[in-house]
Amino acid sequence: MTGRIFLKLLGVIVCLILVALISADFLASRVAERYFVTHLQYELQDKGRILIESQPIRDLDQTAIRDLAKASQARLTVISRDGHVLTDSEAEPANMENHSNRPELIEAFQGRVGISTRASKTVGIEMLYVALPMPQGALRLAMPLSTITNEVRIIRMRILQSVALAFLPAVFIAAVLSRRLAGRISNVIAYAGELANANFRARLDEGVGGELGLLGQKLNETAVNLERTVQQLQVEHAELDRLERVRKDFVINVSHELRTPLASILGYTETLIDGALDDPDHNIKFLNIIRHNTERLTRLTADLLTLSRLELRTQEFRFASFRVNDLLADVVDTIRPIAQKRDIVLRHEPGPADSEIFCDSEAFYQVVSNLLDNAVKYTPQGGHIEAGSKPLIRADGTEWVEFYVRDSGAGIPEDDQSRLFERFYRVDKARSRELGGTGLGLAIVKHLVKGHGGEVRVESTPGQGSTFYFTMPVEHADLEI
Ligand SMILES: Nc1ncnc2c1ncn2[C@@H]1O[C@H](COP(=O)(O)OP(=O)(O)OP(=O)(O)O)[C@@H](O)[C@H]1O
Ligand SMILES: [Mg+2]
Repeated sequence: MTGRIFLKLLGVIVCLILVALISADFLASRVAERYFVTHLQYELQDKGRILIESQPIRDLDQTAIRDLAKASQARLTVISRDGHVLTDSEAEPANMENHSNRPELIEAFQGRVGISTRASKTVGIEMLYVALPMPQGALRLAMPLSTITNEVRIIRMRILQSVALAFLPAVFIAAVLSRRLAGRISNVIAYAGELANANFRARLDEGVGGELGLLGQKLNETAVNLERTVQQLQVEHAELDRLERVRKDFVINVSHELRTPLASILGYTETLIDGALDDPDHNIKFLNIIRHNTERLTRLTADLLTLSRLELRTQEFRFASFRVNDLLADVVDTIRPIAQKRDIVLRHEPGPADSEIFCDSEAFYQVVSNLLDNAVKYTPQGGHIEAGSKPLIRADGTEWVEFYVRDSGAGIPEDDQSRLFERFYRVDKARSRELGGTGLGLAIVKHLVKGHGGEVRVESTPGQGSTFYFTMPVEHADLEI
């Protein structure tokens, strides 16, 4: 690639140099020729004037004219007013035709200096004629132009010699420059090829300045932009993939959660219809199972509806300020009988008396009851649970209240902790289902807390218990939606 570009560039440069040299040679020859002709004209004029002024030319015979012509180094012709040749240094006047129609003589007969260049009819070569007026006629001096052509040829030869000398270094410099330029162009082409092959990490060494440097810089900027765009698209693509997986998992989970209780209801209903209705030992038991599964379905669909409202952000919160201790005590009191049934001590640890939060009280109730419900469910008999709050000031200076629900239950393995708040995620699926759980409680908690601008997290040591924390704003918080 470099070789081809190099040869093309070199070819073009050499052609340009040749054209420039030929033009210079042509112009120089023309200028030199014109200079010599003008010079010769003046020389002949001067010689003619001196001859006319110094002697009676008209009266000179052939021999005297020849001598004068030799001394002046020009052919001399004396012509009378009517064009008749009186004497000529190179031809016999008797053999010469009438000269009245010669352009230089027409001028001279009118009193001006006449000049003309043409092939002589008498001697047959290209001549320069200069005719000067004199009384009753004209003196004409002529010189062959071949003398000038010779001078010009010598000058041209000199020019060509110097040109030939200058041509070699010019070609050498052109070759060096072409090679450099060809190398840089090839680099740009190769780099464009890399970009075409989607290698946006490649960078071009831009080199110094010039249009090629600028082109390289622009190509590099293009590559940076493309790389950034591709990375962005990859991230978006991965996110879309993740969302698609989440959607599929969700559909599978929902179908699965619905199928189990529905199958049980269907099975027991058919058994009752097939005769068990009249069996006093089993009919009530079967009906209880049907009721239990119906309750489970009702809870499941209610949770799904809540979750979908929260995710679509169509859930409307009615915000107001509430006393923290009152709100928390209400929920704890509601759950306490359930805890007591399992021989679990549930205690409310009151925070500062004047502490308030700005929230939807129904949502707050749902959050705490879900956390307490879990604590009770996953704490063995004889355990204890504490719920409380403490004021918190965030780094941005805003005031919050942090709530906690602490239990002495089984705890949650570290690997599961980050996924607890996903829909349908359960650490021990079988045990959770046995306890009536569907794995939606903590997902609802997360969305409700986020709906208030707060955060939820868990700290847990397996075998020792878990503590769930969540925050609620003291005043209306700017929600990050
Ligand atoms: N306090 C806790 N101690 C131990 N494990 C817990 C605790 N709270 C939650 N978990 C684990 O987290 C899982 C998810 O809890 P989540 O409340 O979302 O679902 P669930 O309680 O199983 O069902 P649901 O709340 O929908 O009735 C539970 O299945 C359980 O494995
Ligand atoms: Mg739960």
